[in-house]
Amino acid sequence: MTPQLRIPSTARGKQITITVNGIPVTAHEGETVHAALTAAGIYLLRQTLSGEARGAFCGMGLCYECLVTVNHIPDQRACMTVVQDGMKIRTHG
Ligand code: FES
Repeated sequence: MTPQLRIPSTARGKQITITVNGIPVTAHEGETVHAALTAAGIYLLRQTLSGEARGAFCGMGLCYECLVTVNHIPDQRACMTVVQDGMKIRTHG
């Protein structure tokens, strides 16, 4: 079950569905992948070579801590990628 972490009174785009590691997740047009994942309670995006957990840090495209695979294209910044209906996201956590 997806947690409801969005502020209900905020206007947002049309509801769409993306999949994250094969699981359907609700998103809204205009959101970044990072925003949609955070709203779904998904914070762990990848691990370092030594196994340390990593998630979004800066939220503005500078730190590259939020790398995920988007539609089979690796190393995309979740905070700089806008969701699209049917988008397939794979985290590496
Ligand atoms: S969170 Fe820093 S580049 Fe995405």
